[in-house]
Amino acid sequence: MRLYFLRHGIAEDLAASDFERELTKRGRRRVLASAKVMRRLSIAPRQIFSSPRLRARQTAEIVADALGMAVTISEAVNFGFDLSDLRRLTQDFSADDELMFVGHNPDMSLLVSEITGVDAAMKKGGLARIDVIGRRVDEGELVWLIAPKVFDALGDKSNAAASTFSGTLATPAQKLPTTGQPIHKLIKHRWSPVGFDRERDIDRETLLSVLEAARWAASSFNLQPWRFIVAPRQNPKEFQKAFSVLREGNQPWARHAAVLMIAVTQRLRETAAPNRHAFHDLGLAVSQMVLQALDHGVYAHQMAGIYPEKARETYQIPDEFEPFTAIALGYRATNLDHLDDAQRAREATPRQRNTLNEFVFAGNWAQPADFLDEGGA
Ligand SMILES: Cc1cc2nc3c(=O)[nH]c(=O)nc-3n(C[C@H](O)[C@H](O)[C@H](O)COP(=O)(O)O)c2cc1C
Repeated sequence: MRLYFLRHGIAEDLAASDFERELTKRGRRRVLASAKVMRRLSIAPRQIFSSPRLRARQTAEIVADALGMAVTISEAVNFGFDLSDLRRLTQDFSADDELMFVGHNPDMSLLVSEITGVDAAMKKGGLARIDVIGRRVDEGELVWLIAPKVFDALGDKSNAAASTFSGTLATPAQKLPTTGQPIHKLIKHRWSPVGFDRERDIDRETLLSVLEAARWAASSFNLQPWRFIVAPRQNPKEFQKAFSVLREGNQPWARHAAVLMIAVTQRLRETAAPNRHAFHDLGLAVSQMVLQALDHGVYAHQMAGIYPEKARETYQIPDEFEPFTAIALGYRATNLDHLDDAQRAREATPRQRNTLNEFVFAGNWAQPADFLDEGGA
């Protein structure tokens, strides 16, 4: 479950009662600008709950209007909104749902801090996104907290900050899975983009670190069958050589990668006996490489779509080795203008996975293990 906590915008100091304090002109303008950014960030809560106080209601309505939805007024989000209120409001929603709460301080800051363990100070008009870990809303990861000033900058389309935010720093909402259980954030944030930054190269230190991570993978009999042919784009001749090995379907987007690699495995041992685990172990090394890369902010996209025999010929790869896949590495593009419609759609497609009960068995083939929940996670 994904939760958004939005503190109401700037309100007038005095009114007939606190309940009736309205947003100021500036407050409205800022909330409207934030709402437009939320729409651009594809924030799409299933329901927006608002405190009944006028300034929160007006904030929620401006946002709901921009996102094309309605507001649910709830006394639970009024002063004193706490974890037990949140549990009650969320109990009928599923793990895949996204919900937004529009309320007041100190409750919003306290709740965000309590759930995430991070000291959060929410400004008026600030928005926090929390991805719940597991099934209880009591524990979650603070994915980001946007201050109203940052919203202002993001709202200005000509401002580079806008594209940086949606491009490199934040994993697009559609790509970030709502996991059944907590998993390491690198695993959660990894995905295979086609929109690579055409200008930002990967420096030598980062590249060495990524390869070092592959080096320390486990392998059957410690045979370490993996080999990588590495072609950074700073070396156009080598980059073109690796590029020419890719199938046509991969070339249009992989041309923008900062580094191309051909992944090769040693399928025959020195004794000429087959290493049955050569492909398994190559996969392990690549997996470590991909996660290490993401730790540096570098994304990887693996490709089966290569011409292996062309690779063999181009690089004179001996018979006992098998060129198997290619890997494109690069920073994510800060804007996707260089992609065609199909590629852009691909960047926006949510990631799908089987449930645990489709692949975790016990007792008999295809029999989901007892310890799995009914829903298979
Ligand atoms: C061994 C392997 C081969 C792949 N081959 C291709 C490919 O040739 N072209 C491509 O666009 N994506 C390729 N992919 C990427 C997968 O389509 C992608 O990993 C999968 O759809 C899951 O999406 P995610 O990585 O974003 O979670 C490959 C991935 C792996 C691991």
